[in-house]
Amino acid sequence: MSSVATPAVRRAARFYEAAIGKKAVMAVTGVILFGYVVAHLLGNLQIYSSDPEQINRYAAFLHDPSRTFLLWAARLFLLAAVALHITASVQLWLLKREARPVGYFKKDDVPAAYAARTMIWSGPIVLAFVIFHILHLTVGSVFPLRELGPNQPNVHANLVTGFQHPVVAAFYIFAMVLLSMHLYHGLWSMFQSLGLNHPRYTPAVKRAAAVFAILIAAGNISIPLAVLMGLVT
Ligand code: HEM
Repeated sequence: MSSVATPAVRRAARFYEAAIGKKAVMAVTGVILFGYVVAHLLGNLQIYSSDPEQINRYAAFLHDPSRTFLLWAARLFLLAAVALHITASVQLWLLKREARPVGYFKKDDVPAAYAARTMIWSGPIVLAFVIFHILHLTVGSVFPLRELGPNQPNVHANLVTGFQHPVVAAFYIFAMVLLSMHLYHGLWSMFQSLGLNHPRYTPAVKRAAAVFAILIAAGNISIPLAVLMGLVT
């Protein structure tokens, strides 16, 4: 650390060096990303409006040139959260491996071992999904994107065109199942690793995490399913 660093920066760096600092970064960035997933789902559910233009008006509002600065600020903020979340998770994994190369889960501690294993592969698959998803619906390199005018994506048509392909719809559904497992384990282990756990509350925290994860998966999965079943055209 350079000698010009202020005491506050040095304190923050020392805090981050310890495992608890990395866990705190994972928790804060995880909550930010969770908030985005909830807000994004609420926006996407407008596909079910009786007015097919509703979701397009919403997209036009987000893409309005007067809000370009805000849009890019939000994108950069989310990107920073993703980068910190991944960096802290890899560093924590390396720390754990250094401390106990043989693995520390007792054979009978099946839920904990399952949770850790799930996080290790659901995280990278969800990341791969997000990259594919941005190429699909923001960049337009999977199918050409339709627009109603400049800065007015035809989201309704783009979703229907994409999800009419069973392979694309199946990949979304698979990724949403993994995302919900990731959210479930992430949410309750966040409480545990930050020491906010108590035997009396852990079952309730786990139940609440499961309810959130299932609702988010159900909402997201319903969209490709509704298109495949011809309910949204
Ligand atoms: C079936 C579920 C989903 C649907 C139908 C959906 C739909 C969309 C659409 C239509 C866009 C383009 C919006 C626009 O141009 O205004 C978009 C962008 C995006 N979505 Fe999703 N999404 C889904 C799930 C997710 C999930 C689970 C995540 C994150 C884990 C996610 C992350 C993003 C990101 C990061 C963008 C780029 C936003 C930007 O342009 O800045 N989406 N999504």
